[in-house]
Amino acid sequence: MTTAIFPGSFDPLTLGHLDLIERAGRLCDTLIVGVLYNPDKSSFFTPQQRVDMIHRALGNRENVRVVQFAGLMVELARQENASFVIRGVRGAADLQSESAMAHANGLLLPGLETVFLPASAQFEAISSSLVRQIAQFGGNLNPFVPAALVDEIAARFYNGNSHIG
Ligand code: PNS
Repeated sequence: MTTAIFPGSFDPLTLGHLDLIERAGRLCDTLIVGVLYNPDKSSFFTPQQRVDMIHRALGNRENVRVVQFAGLMVELARQENASFVIRGVRGAADLQSESAMAHANGLLLPGLETVFLPASAQFEAISSSLVRQIAQFGGNLNPFVPAALVDEIAARFYNGNSHIG
């Protein structure tokens, strides 16, 4: 039984993330989507909202579990008995920073592999920070986030309802 973790901030989930979750789910028996809770960093959506949004966008997937985690992703991997970490890469810059992180994680938890999945071409330019900017200025979110989340994300920004989460 292979278990993989797919850690991230998912603040908020994008179409690129959803595509990676679906593809990663086909590479292992169990995929744990880890939503980072960082008390020292402000986020636009609370960890629970981010978990709920992933559930709503993903629907029922038998082999995908969504959890919150704080601290190092290797601790999540250890706790879940995962043999590899999935990370998406959108280009050369991502590859450079992700390689450094993969190396550090291998030193922290020997034997833990990192598998890079290239972003699908149509999602290469999408990021959560881009989505937040577009939402802040009332832009059309449909090309960027799952349809089920468009209204919730737009409403959060429209109401100016950001918070520390
Ligand atoms: O896709 P994101 O939002 O950039 O993901 C960032 C994330 C959550 C993977 C990263 O910030 C993280 O896991 N932080 C926890 C600390 C950690 O384990 N860092 C890597 C070891 S150096």
